[in-house]
Amino acid sequence: MAVEGSAPGKVILFGEHSVVYRGPAIVLAIDRRARVVAEERSDDRIYIDALNLGFSGYFVGDAYHPEQGEAWRGKRLAALNVAARRTMERLGVESGLNLKVRSRIPIAVGLGSSAAISVATVAAIGALLGGNLSKDEICALAYEGEKVIHGTPSGADNNISTYGGILRYERGVGFERFEVERIPPFVIGNSRRKRSTKMMVGNVRALRERNPVTVDGIIDAMGRLSQEGLAALLGSDLPLLGDLMNINHGLLAALGVSSPELDLMVHASRRAGALGAKLTGAGGGGCIIALAETPRLKQVESAIRRARGTPLRVNVSYEGVKTRSVG
Ligand code: PMV
Repeated sequence: MAVEGSAPGKVILFGEHSVVYRGPAIVLAIDRRARVVAEERSDDRIYIDALNLGFSGYFVGDAYHPEQGEAWRGKRLAALNVAARRTMERLGVESGLNLKVRSRIPIAVGLGSSAAISVATVAAIGALLGGNLSKDEICALAYEGEKVIHGTPSGADNNISTYGGILRYERGVGFERFEVERIPPFVIGNSRRKRSTKMMVGNVRALRERNPVTVDGIIDAMGRLSQEGLAALLGSDLPLLGDLMNINHGLLAALGVSSPELDLMVHASRRAGALGAKLTGAGGGGCIIALAETPRLKQVESAIRRARGTPLRVNVSYEGVKTRSVG
């Protein structure tokens, strides 16, 4: 018997960086999913096959034994090991597991691949071992895994992967989920340059320490943009949404988190007719997100390709985590 869990990736539409301090972030689930197939083993190993990401190996307790790929990958895979073990503890089951990870979410570019894999893993194990885990429980167990690699992440990534849809997240306030009809697809432009969220957040913190008044002014403006952006999204006001995305990109660039590659893709998208384009996530590499009317989508994708990025057309996905039996 094997069970497949799947969960969506995400893209941040507004509020990256400012959300670390105050104000909301608006996060969208995308129709690119991570899939994890779980089955029981007769020994006590947690065996992880992530061969389409280039690695595989197994955990005995907390110790990672690589089979393919470098040993340091174990640091990232530790999230799955911890999420898997916490899930079994919660269910009161002791078992070894084979976890086959097949994700269509590019890794380390801000699209929420690690949280989606953790959420899919917990859900697959829950269904495999007969536990009736609620979405809240799946989300919380996946967060246990995320903490191992990211310290104390906001929780936005595991929430969006669990519930799907549109999420407003604000520190100290929590999460609110929205659904909107008729949002056109977005085009993501992937620079394929991996970056560290921790380093980019640290750079902004240092800039703020040197320039508190100016940087706080930018952070406040970003918080307002996020709020107005959500209203524009809910009201399907695409021209306004585009303007707000463009302004937000300028402010993120002012905080020093853009890069020549990201700027190139942003400007190429706008020239090709996008209503708005901005970097998304931590910046310094990773991705941009562009909004365009449907007849312009192809031009925007070509422009991103000419700017040496990889375009990815995505729809907002209202389908959160789910499982199915695979024999
Ligand atoms: O690129 P990502 O998905 O890691 O997004 C980071 C978002 C930040 O606001 C920069 C950091 C955070 O923890 O909110």
